[in-house]
Amino acid sequence: MRKTLLCGIAATLLTGAVSAQQAAPATPRPATRAAAGASAPARMTTFIDALMKKMTLAEKLGQLNLPGAGDITTGQASNSDIAGKIRKGEVGGLFNIKSVDKIRAVQQIAVEQSRLKIPLIFGMDVIHGYETEFPIPLALSCTWDTGLVEKSARIAAVEASADGIDWTFSPMVDIARDPRWGRIAEGNGEDPYLGSAMARAMVKGYQGDNFNSGRTIMACVKHFALYGAAEAGRDYNTTDMSPVRMYNEYLPPYKAAVDAGVGSVMSSFNDVNDVPATANKWLMTDLLRHQWGFRGFVVTDYTAINELIAHGLGDLQVCSARALMAGIDMDMVGEGFLTTLPASLKEGKATLAQIDLACRRILEAKYKLGLFEDPYRYCQPERAKTDIFTSEHLQAARDIAAQSFVLLRNQGDVLPLKKGGSIALIGPLGDTRENMVGTWAVATDGSKAVSVADGLRAALGNQGTVTYARGANIVGDSLYNNRISVFGKNTNWDSRPADDMIAEAVALAAQSDVVVAALGESAEMSGECSSRSDISLPESQERLLKALIKTGKPVVLVLFTGRPLTIPWESQNVPAILNVWFGGTEAGNAIADVLFGDVNPSGKLTTTWPQNVGQVPLYYNHMNTGRPLPENGWFQKFRSNYLDVSNDPVYPFGYGLSYTHYQYSAVTLSTARAKGNQPVTASVTITNTGAKAGKEVVQLYLRQLVGSITRPVKELKGFQKVDLAPGETKTVSFRLTPADLKFYNADLRYDWEPGDFDVMIGGNSRDVQTARLSWAK
Ligand code: BGC
Repeated sequence: MRKTLLCGIAATLLTGAVSAQQAAPATPRPATRAAAGASAPARMTTFIDALMKKMTLAEKLGQLNLPGAGDITTGQASNSDIAGKIRKGEVGGLFNIKSVDKIRAVQQIAVEQSRLKIPLIFGMDVIHGYETEFPIPLALSCTWDTGLVEKSARIAAVEASADGIDWTFSPMVDIARDPRWGRIAEGNGEDPYLGSAMARAMVKGYQGDNFNSGRTIMACVKHFALYGAAEAGRDYNTTDMSPVRMYNEYLPPYKAAVDAGVGSVMSSFNDVNDVPATANKWLMTDLLRHQWGFRGFVVTDYTAINELIAHGLGDLQVCSARALMAGIDMDMVGEGFLTTLPASLKEGKATLAQIDLACRRILEAKYKLGLFEDPYRYCQPERAKTDIFTSEHLQAARDIAAQSFVLLRNQGDVLPLKKGGSIALIGPLGDTRENMVGTWAVATDGSKAVSVADGLRAALGNQGTVTYARGANIVGDSLYNNRISVFGKNTNWDSRPADDMIAEAVALAAQSDVVVAALGESAEMSGECSSRSDISLPESQERLLKALIKTGKPVVLVLFTGRPLTIPWESQNVPAILNVWFGGTEAGNAIADVLFGDVNPSGKLTTTWPQNVGQVPLYYNHMNTGRPLPENGWFQKFRSNYLDVSNDPVYPFGYGLSYTHYQYSAVTLSTARAKGNQPVTASVTITNTGAKAGKEVVQLYLRQLVGSITRPVKELKGFQKVDLAPGETKTVSFRLTPADLKFYNADLRYDWEPGDFDVMIGGNSRDVQTARLSWAK
């Protein structure tokens, strides 16, 4: 089958054979033989030049069009609405179609029934796994392990590419400092240095070094740009920020993805200093293309061109022309390019040169993916049977999930639990599979995920008992409950009176040795359009938790969330808190691994956890102000603080406990007086003083004490995850060079300034050892 179809497209490319109705000039084939001596980029250019010569304006605009796929039922692809458009050459690609059979059938229409037989690109939101789901990205970042993150992206690529997908709308690298914003779940937290490292890892994981194997897919970094800085944490809201802040704090992860060779970029919904990103020429062309040298293509976010109308930029024709001329290449869903650019071209509001450029960029992506050589390269039914949801992938998902959990509290060493006795598993998240995968799990079947109940029971076998009681609904208000069940991730609403559910749970707790309370957000409480103005535990669950604590039984809070929560009470009153985010398909097994101590937790927060929403935005790398409060200080008149709450977070950036303890030495520097490019080594020794082996994430922060502009009180500039056996001591060294001191100054010049620096090393951003370093030019 594959061979026959291959021959079909190859023959067309060789001879220019076309469908009976519409004769087209010969389409060149990828010049594998024709220009054997030429370099790969030159061969690509020759191929695309020849192809574009044959294309009509409508066909070029078709390449720029990424419509919604609609409902393509298996076996019915050729009758779908979209099929007609594909035949007419009006479609460049499709997205979020699941299954190799459907994709193959649709591709067949493009390469057998359209005039030029140009293959489609197939995208999907493969955000944290394909069928094998890994933890949500915010959780992945808490591993502080770029190798693991890269591995998760590679496995996602292997699975997706086996099922017809060649392009993913990931990584999402929006820096977010406002936990009200639900999409904080999709990124890597608040720090540009860590965010850049994760961006590179994900691009590498998806794309590999090239697309030769057919087992890697094209990445798309999003949402360009500054989407995470939405005012008030309200999704899609306005973004307004100084250029210095943009360059130093928000843009680095996008740039890191570009430097890592990401194939595509997605424009964001928000405006950026009064010009929506999707029509922002400075962003899409001056910065992205001219300053950063990006050579791939830019796709809009979902209907983002149409939304320019509501932003107030004009009608669809005006908005489409503005988006094109700003540097957008592909129009997701809205069809503004397809339907209005011909008129704009006639009226001189858009240029053919820009359309050609956009078309070329999309054809180049298809060429690089190998689709002109084999349009079914990613549609191999045999791979779909063997390469997806494998036991090896599931094992990786389990290992990675366990490393993403963050132990927030462990008073009196309640954890790890012993395998035995009776466990009361209580809470609305204790016995649900589909909520384990979290937001953006398009391709997976949530019912195949492992719940906490499944995981605990499997780990215990017949060594102990796990009895479950729901205890509370996720939220107490049924209308709120409807708003968090839009995509069908069931919250299993229980219509019993809240007091009855609590009474049942308390009775169960009273008979048990230990309580595991699985509480927090359900999957749809974070992610797109899931902003919250109150980020505490919902009241229904708070009441339950307080009742459980009152029983006097040891309570372990297994906390599910896609964002930092405000849990000041819990942080003082619940003996053990394990934050498990949304751990993916293997969540329940990984939770059991950590609760029973088979895995020692090592995750560290990549966001600051505030005491209350009034402190937001609260982030570790802030400026000092002219009236700072002394560290760990409480209220002082005429200082930068609040009357009713201290400036401290509940948990700082970088924080996370272990079942063992680590002792840090003072920081030693290879020299306290550096000059020019001479590198400096900063070291600490760390000792595992406990009885368990563990992994510690050692973090290095710098502070420039005097600068031409104000500088943050600390900035992450290095991290290493080290394994330590009980009693073991290791020296951990970081090599610093002037590159680590660079920042964008008031003229947006990227350089370093001589002077004094604090070099801080520790296990989180608050508890550090400090040494002073002078660095001369
Ligand atoms: C989201 C994107 C996503 C796109 C396609 C949009 O609503 O903002 O992140 O990639 O839909 O599904």
